[in-house]
Amino acid sequence: MRLALAKSSEQSRSAPETISMKYYIQTYGCQMNYSDSERITTVLKQMGYEKTDGYADADLILLNTCSIKQKAENKIYGLGEQFAPMKKRNPNLRIGITGCMIRDESGARGDVKHEVFKTMPTIDFVFRIKDLMQLPNILFKLHGSKGGDEFKNLCDYFHISPTITNLSQAFIPISNGCNNFCSYCIVPYARGREECRKMSEILDEVKKVAKRGAVEINLVGQNVSTYNAKDADQDSQESHFAQLLRKIDTVEGIDRIRFYTVHPKDITDDVIDLYGKLPSMVPHIHLPLQSGSEAVLKRMNRLYTPDRFRELVKKLRIKIPHISISTDIIVGFCGETEEEFMESCNIIEELKIDLIYVSKYSERKGTLAHKKLDDDVPETIKKERFLRITELMKNISHDYNQNFKGKKVKVLVERIRKGYADGKIPEFKMTRFKASDPKLIGKYVEIEVDKCMEWCLEGEPA
Ligand code: SAH
Ligand code: SF4
Ligand code: F3S
Repeated sequence: MRLALAKSSEQSRSAPETISMKYYIQTYGCQMNYSDSERITTVLKQMGYEKTDGYADADLILLNTCSIKQKAENKIYGLGEQFAPMKKRNPNLRIGITGCMIRDESGARGDVKHEVFKTMPTIDFVFRIKDLMQLPNILFKLHGSKGGDEFKNLCDYFHISPTITNLSQAFIPISNGCNNFCSYCIVPYARGREECRKMSEILDEVKKVAKRGAVEINLVGQNVSTYNAKDADQDSQESHFAQLLRKIDTVEGIDRIRFYTVHPKDITDDVIDLYGKLPSMVPHIHLPLQSGSEAVLKRMNRLYTPDRFRELVKKLRIKIPHISISTDIIVGFCGETEEEFMESCNIIEELKIDLIYVSKYSERKGTLAHKKLDDDVPETIKKERFLRITELMKNISHDYNQNFKGKKVKVLVERIRKGYADGKIPEFKMTRFKASDPKLIGKYVEIEVDKCMEWCLEGEPA
């Protein structure tokens, strides 16, 4: 029964008694948030909270939010109403918000001020993710829950070990925040300036997850190219990120390394040189372009030109000719003309970029673009450009994917759904085959590809 005192086997000695209550975390946004939720889980478990799979029987709901577009924030504001009847049914229910929407202070309603308290009367507390160590105090106040003392004096939330849910693919942050101030982007305001983790700390985490069965490491940071570690070899000519990749490559059991995201202005030749050299470097890179127009890139404060991007793609293809390249494009950025939009389409076509994450520009309050430029491309035009560039990508992707026809590929199974198992091949292509056994999740299966669609490949076990 709720509020009964119970001891769990995961409790530490510093948590002599805990309250048996259930938590549910809803994660939005990017891999960084996904990884942060794994650290939040560690704190809650240590406090004796038990996981539940939905809102219905939760005593604690945490929304780990994203602010990248206004739509993402609106989604959270829209949830407020549905919490009122839930709180009536369960007076013990407490609801908190963390993630990129929470930037200034951490604490309970009444102790700190935040916009969400005004617009969402059902929210009880907010905390900045870098104040995760304060969560036990906040929950003690709101729920009477004890435990979590071991986290209270930590100076860095990265020192809290993540509770890995996906045993074969781990998401490991190497830095937090960003110094770039691309004019459209909220991240430097939401997450603050870039702070990099020590290389030894990252390697320890990689070794730990490898021991538990991880074969794929996803390194996460807003600009992994500027990774700068206090404990890297400072006398070496090699960039710190290249040093890190080399070290991870030697960890036993790790045979795929992916990273999100390099910045075209900062990626170094020594990282490109590792393609085709380090066995774990997959033949795929996510290289965010944002626009194919030099003038738009200038307005975006991206600090590279389309020619620099072309040059990078050329160098990568010298290392691995069939490398898969994905990118991000924003359509309808301030003042984007039809000609400027066509420059994005043309470079995508010219370089045969085989996967694009397209976003319609969404003005973010406080950013440079909000202060200095007009969000003047009408929504109908943004929508139309979104559809046109998506159509273009479908064609390129369809053509690129034909290269896999009749080939044997290694799929790392991620899930079983609707009679199919699916997962990625090294080139990042989602690939599926008929299967229903959940034991396949996290395993490699060799598939002979017989169908190549624009969004996925299909085949049968070879
Ligand atoms: N650090 C990465 C991007 C992280 S944000 C980089 O430098 O590329 C992920 C993507 O969201 C961006 O690449 C961009 O395409 C999109 N995005 C960011 N801010 C946006 C905005 N205000 N409107 C629309 N899309 C945006
Ligand atoms: Fe945003 Fe630019 Fe930083 Fe990426 S590099 S997170 S787009 S400011
Ligand atoms: Fe969103 Fe924050 Fe990631 S704004 S995209 S969750 S860094």
